[in-house]
Amino acid sequence: MVVSSQLRDGVMEVVVDNPPVNALGHAVRAGLAEALGAAVAQPEVEAIVLRCAGRTFFAGADISEFGKPPREPALPDLCELIEGLAKPVVAVVHGTALGGGLEVALACHYRIAATTAQLGTPEVKLGLLPGAGGTQRLPRLVGVAAALDMIVLGEPIPAERALALGLLDRVSAPENLVSDALTFARAVAKDRPLPRTGAKAIEPDQPAIERFRAVHDRKLAHQDAPQACIEAITAATTLPIAEGLAVERRLFGKLVGGDQSKALRHYFFAERKAAKIEGLGPEIKPRPVESVGVIGAGTMGRGIAMAFVSAGLAVTILDTNREALDRGVAQMRGTWEASVAKGRITAEDLARYSSLLTPALDYQALRGCDLIIEAVFELMEVKREVLGRVDDVAKPDAIIATNTSYLDVDAIALATSRPEQVIGLHFFSPAHVMKLLEIVRGARTAPNVLATAMALAKRIGKIPVVSGNCHGFIGNRMLAKRREQAFDLLMEGATVQQIDEALVAFGMPMGPFQMSDLAGVDIGWHRDPSRVETVRDALCAAGRFGQKSGKGYYDYDDNRKAAPSRDAQAIIEAFAARAGHRPRSIAPDEIRERCLFAMINEGANILAEGIAQRASDIDVVWINGYGWPKQTGGPMFWAEQVGLRQIVERLESYHIAVAPLLAEKAREGQGFASTNDIV
Ligand code: 3HC
Repeated sequence: MVVSSQLRDGVMEVVVDNPPVNALGHAVRAGLAEALGAAVAQPEVEAIVLRCAGRTFFAGADISEFGKPPREPALPDLCELIEGLAKPVVAVVHGTALGGGLEVALACHYRIAATTAQLGTPEVKLGLLPGAGGTQRLPRLVGVAAALDMIVLGEPIPAERALALGLLDRVSAPENLVSDALTFARAVAKDRPLPRTGAKAIEPDQPAIERFRAVHDRKLAHQDAPQACIEAITAATTLPIAEGLAVERRLFGKLVGGDQSKALRHYFFAERKAAKIEGLGPEIKPRPVESVGVIGAGTMGRGIAMAFVSAGLAVTILDTNREALDRGVAQMRGTWEASVAKGRITAEDLARYSSLLTPALDYQALRGCDLIIEAVFELMEVKREVLGRVDDVAKPDAIIATNTSYLDVDAIALATSRPEQVIGLHFFSPAHVMKLLEIVRGARTAPNVLATAMALAKRIGKIPVVSGNCHGFIGNRMLAKRREQAFDLLMEGATVQQIDEALVAFGMPMGPFQMSDLAGVDIGWHRDPSRVETVRDALCAAGRFGQKSGKGYYDYDDNRKAAPSRDAQAIIEAFAARAGHRPRSIAPDEIRERCLFAMINEGANILAEGIAQRASDIDVVWINGYGWPKQTGGPMFWAEQVGLRQIVERLESYHIAVAPLLAEKAREGQGFASTNDIV
């Protein structure tokens, strides 16, 4: 039974059991309304405790029900019903009380939580606002400033903080939570009037709203939900509760039917689907990994080492060049020290991280490692040589990984005597910050090696997506198509700024040329200034290597602030003229369409070849690895919103060869979504 009740010495214990996360689907809501009504009607019941079985308190409304016809009782009505009951209801929170889950707790008269619990309103991440009274009740309990943080940013808070804010009445050790809740319920059973959150007074706090906007408004641009959250919280401070709830309802209705929320809900399930891999059932168990070897103390190696260390794994970082090793280790320490100064980690964390890190000059130091990752120069010969040396020292069951961005993982694997133990782990820079991990499954990678990589990715807080082996894998292969268009547009007369601006206006954090200046224009350059075959060669020949040299596609001041560059523009124009181009004026729409549709086109090829398992995996890659605006759902989801037919037409008009799968889906009037259902 989803909802069960048991009378315990005057207190009715109502328990919801709806695995895996007690989402508040229809059966739960109906069961709760009935159980609570029955408890109030029973004379021997003096108080009610409401708790959940399993791993967590309610994780929110059932997200899969959005967009379907509503079924009574609606969650806001259930919350109203709970708040209005004539007997006290105590919410008993363990695990996470999220979204609608927290709103149910807010409607209860008292709240008690395990010390380990987390409480939050993450609706904004789904393009929504708390729509079951949360925007009205939460500020009444914790004040406007704290409510803004919780609702508009969507990050959960720990129980102790919730207690300090007045969101909880008490916290208990997890093992005593239920018995403490029963005792508490008996103690307050006769207290009247009942503390009804919705009846609490609240003062307007415009300064708090202005302070919040000043800090966060820029980051929240392009997104509908945060603005609606602020509007609803403002209503809570200026209107009576019933009217505030009506404002919340109206705003919620608008958001839930809008494109952004649809896209973000798609993303929620996409991220979880990405963890499911064809041919990898639960019988395939990951291997234990406690020690990791990282080869190369450059930017990538350092970032990878930091990612593992901060998750508590012992890391041996190897660089055969003593100077590079010392410098790398000092830089890692510097990064951690800066984090301590900013309050992001504690001094104890720093001490622990340092003790987990062992610098090494000799490959022999990698002997005991469960996983060894190379992060050396992106050149096949170099990677193969390093993996050959790893093969000589690694223990028989060690997993060997290559952090290549483009190269053939199978060819790299063949440098070892055990290609089935080899896998690609493509981290994104800076590797200790960026969430995406592309896991490249080689032709011979063993299933349990893949399973281990997936489990490990989760352990270090990454979002893993499996890719097949091809040049550039999922992300960089699509990026190459965007870059191709960007360069063509430059030749045809669009300026660097026009191209970057068109993509930033779409919601990308930066355009292709800003990205190139940041990464280094000279990455992959042949280093011969006399050989000028591309615009990039021309810029490098003029010493324009990007931000690090103070000039690239843009000019930079001492604070690395960019300004359009006349010199760069002159180099570009001269190159284009030499190549026989006559400049024309190009509209932002054309820039956006050519850059983005060419990527989607390549995404279709990637799908057709089975490099990505499903279209939604491509969305997860682009959102987490390249900053594709999440509120559009990722390139493949967005493509469906635009309409595949239209994309095909536009590609044809730009003389870009249409991918057969894209043409087929457009012809059949289908989207890519059908490919999301595999596994
Ligand atoms: N509705 C439907 N399904 C949900 C769900 C929800 N609210 N929350 C989780 N699930 C599903 C997941 O899709 C997953 O399904 P799968 O096993 O088939 O892939 C399964 O439950 C387990 O979820 P996770 O893999 O995410 O499990 P974790 O243990 O890693 O995380 C969690 C648990 C922290 C609860 C996480 O699932 C989570 O953050 N859930 C969403 C919370 C949320 O956004 N709540 C707000 C919902 S909107 C709302 O409440 C509107 C209201 O204001 C009106």
